[in-house]
Amino acid sequence: MIELKVHHQDEIKTIKTEGNASLLEILRENGFEIFTPCGGNGTCGKCKVWQKGEGSITSCVHYVTEPMEIILPDKKEAQILVEQHIHTLSVPFSPGPSSFLSYLPHGVAIDLGTTSLVFYLVNLVTGSLVETRAVLNPQAQYGGDVISRISYASEKEGGLLKLQEVILTSINEQLDHFAEFAGITKDEIVKITVSGNTTMLHLLLRVDPLSIALAPFKPSFTDEQIVKGKNLNLHCHAESEIKIMPSISAYVGADIVSGLASIKPADDRKNYLFMDLGTNGELALATQESTICCATAAGPALEGARISCGMGAMEGAISTYNGNEYSVIGDGVPTGICGSGLIDVIAHLVQNKLVDGDGLLEEEFVVVPADESDNGKPISITQQDIREVQLAKSAIAAGVNILVKEAGLSFDDIDAVFLAGGFGNYINAESAMKIGLISPKFKNKIIALGNTSGTGAVLALKSTQFDGVVQDLLKQTRYIELSGHDDFTLDFAMNMMFEPIEL
Ligand code: FES
Repeated sequence: MIELKVHHQDEIKTIKTEGNASLLEILRENGFEIFTPCGGNGTCGKCKVWQKGEGSITSCVHYVTEPMEIILPDKKEAQILVEQHIHTLSVPFSPGPSSFLSYLPHGVAIDLGTTSLVFYLVNLVTGSLVETRAVLNPQAQYGGDVISRISYASEKEGGLLKLQEVILTSINEQLDHFAEFAGITKDEIVKITVSGNTTMLHLLLRVDPLSIALAPFKPSFTDEQIVKGKNLNLHCHAESEIKIMPSISAYVGADIVSGLASIKPADDRKNYLFMDLGTNGELALATQESTICCATAAGPALEGARISCGMGAMEGAISTYNGNEYSVIGDGVPTGICGSGLIDVIAHLVQNKLVDGDGLLEEEFVVVPADESDNGKPISITQQDIREVQLAKSAIAAGVNILVKEAGLSFDDIDAVFLAGGFGNYINAESAMKIGLISPKFKNKIIALGNTSGTGAVLALKSTQFDGVVQDLLKQTRYIELSGHDDFTLDFAMNMMFEPIEL
């Protein structure tokens, strides 16, 4: 008998099985509900569960042969999987000529984020998503954000080479893991697609990124780049196609292009906003005729940086707060507060008039008293923290205002607001509206889609037809440089205020 430990909604259940069945079948036999929109064919990737300490696996194609510890999606993750399924474009499976390089071809889609790297292994015979892995970006030791990495690459002797080396090492480690996991050789990995922000793609190809940080912010390349596995010394077939997805500008990268292109058109959704909120808020407004996009320098507050007790969305971070209770990622003792928790706390302060319209905080607000925190010090919000959040929320709100005006629309004309990226998964939409980060006019229109950059990279891996979708999107997309826009300064100043609202 094989023992499986299943974590589900704060409980751990132990299952004994004889194996010889897919993980999905075993979970179902034991009463667990799993979302399977493709009916267990291995093609939609939505039946994924997490294997503790490993990564996500596609439960309908994973056969149980040894003991495992499984974590099922929580309510919010399950909802995101459903939304992803509803709103993701369907493309015919046609991985292209490199799939003929092997009898058992596999491909890997990669989302190169500033903080984390996400890898997707796809079987290019069946189209099934076999495994997903996420690891921290090892470049973080040379700078937490893109600007500090650009400085490192430009100012340190050998800096650019070092940044490329560490990312390639990390990619190779994951390719090795995938080969072992799937029981294939490295020569059976025949296609790799890479999405990510413009700086990450420059660093991957060892192209000097300095021009991204200096006015007029012109990257060295934005077009799609194709190289071979052997050019980057990757642990895959030497002739494999490595496709680097195209970007739009210095701060609207391939991650946004992939994400936007992955969204399925719908008759009941004429105009929609796409928001990827982080240190840079990348925003796009798509109408039936065209797309307008921009990037706002929101600052690092939403990622918990430059906040007195701030931290990233990792174990120990307070991720939600409702005035009485807080929740901590990993359910342990709190060590700090991440962006979503910060927004909840500030929404509580605004709603209860502990912060006034100008953002003045009466006194430092203690979220967690000293005796409940990890380091014996209180976790609090200071006046400066409020100021950082004001800068972030007004930059994003001003960016949205300008896109809506440029499109000749009103807020009422927007049919949906898609939140991309990890922050969108955690954020409480009501709190975001209460602090003015997202307009209350978008109530009931907000949909978190998870890692759309990764979704787009997987579509590019599975279908050459997705390339055409991407090229069409690029042709009809216009980029607006907000720093040169007449209305930005005024819009930014107007959105600094907090206004209590009823939802
Ligand atoms: S149910 Fe679609 S991949 Fe498993």
